[in-house]
Amino acid sequence: MSVIDQAAKRLQELQRAGVDLPARDDVTDALPTPEAMVRALESRETAPPHSPSDLSMPQRIEAEVASQVKPTVRSRRRIAARGTPTTRHVELDLAALTARGFISPEAPTQIADEFRVIKRPLIRNAVGKSGAAPVKNGNLIMVTSALPGEGKTFTSVNLAMSIALEFDSTVLLVDGDVAHPQLPNLLGIPSSPGLLDLLTRDDIDVGDTLIKTNVEKLTIMPAGSRHRRATELLASEQMVGLLQELGARYPDRIVIFDSPPLLATTEARVLAGHMGQILMVVSADSTARSAVQAALTTIENCEIVLMMLNKASKTEVGTYYGYY
Ligand SMILES: Nc1ncnc2c1ncn2[C@@H]1O[C@H](COP(=O)(O)OP(=O)(O)OP(=O)(O)O)[C@@H](O)[C@H]1O
Ligand SMILES: [Mg+2]
Repeated sequence: MSVIDQAAKRLQELQRAGVDLPARDDVTDALPTPEAMVRALESRETAPPHSPSDLSMPQRIEAEVASQVKPTVRSRRRIAARGTPTTRHVELDLAALTARGFISPEAPTQIADEFRVIKRPLIRNAVGKSGAAPVKNGNLIMVTSALPGEGKTFTSVNLAMSIALEFDSTVLLVDGDVAHPQLPNLLGIPSSPGLLDLLTRDDIDVGDTLIKTNVEKLTIMPAGSRHRRATELLASEQMVGLLQELGARYPDRIVIFDSPPLLATTEARVLAGHMGQILMVVSADSTARSAVQAALTTIENCEIVLMMLNKASKTEVGTYYGYY
């Protein structure tokens, strides 16, 4: 039975049931003319393809994320209309950071010397210094580890500080540990929009999430509002676009991502897939070899993985640093 026959049958049933129906002309207008069918088909292309109850669980998650990820074209239009972004500024307590063992402009420390060695190959891969060809997306550097507490945040902050203080390039430190962001407490950053908000909101631009600091070349992007589908957001096309924007808009800018542990969450693996370089922190004497091997397996598709031995009291080679 055609759609028109079905509609006519339904009308007859309603009339028999005593329902007050509109005049005949109005009914004819409501019937699916070819033009109306075309209009309906066109509008379906922008609407979700199914109601949530028709979908399997993975499809439902995908649909939910798709509905929350901001549409790129719309966001560009809105951003263009918004004008100047609202970049904030925070005064880092450099004395307190120094007291906690972090690199700061205030005092030369042993840790600053160690990070000079650590950052050298990362910078070379990122911006092609010393004649080496830069690797693809080399200025996107993720700091991760196998397990929690190995020193990822400690390393991210120190690496960012070290590069910002001694290298002629700006550094963007991104809090990519979206489920357990540590940078706000550590650096005294107020709660503000960040990475996840850029993926879900169409009323903010990258510039609205950036926090400038009293270390001239160091800028911070917080993790942003928590989201229960953070992994899917990080895996989205919007994330790929955002990273391309971050990496390509300022090719001389190094972007460092403090990240979750590889074996405890899926977010870190998703993030790793987008990065040019990965710095894997290994806590000396506490992380089992099998855990390190399992973690490396999760990022084996990543071309550049560098290992850093952390919290080592003494090493035979005199450095905490090595290649994988
Ligand atoms: N090389 C180091 N020297 C001194 N303290 C360190 C060092 N590395 C890490 N720490 C300290 O160890 C603790 C854990 O480090 P951190 O928070 O950086 O680990 P994490 O890997 O980021 O943890 P999580 O997985 O929970 O995010 C912190 O108190 C940090 O200051
Ligand atoms: Mg951390």
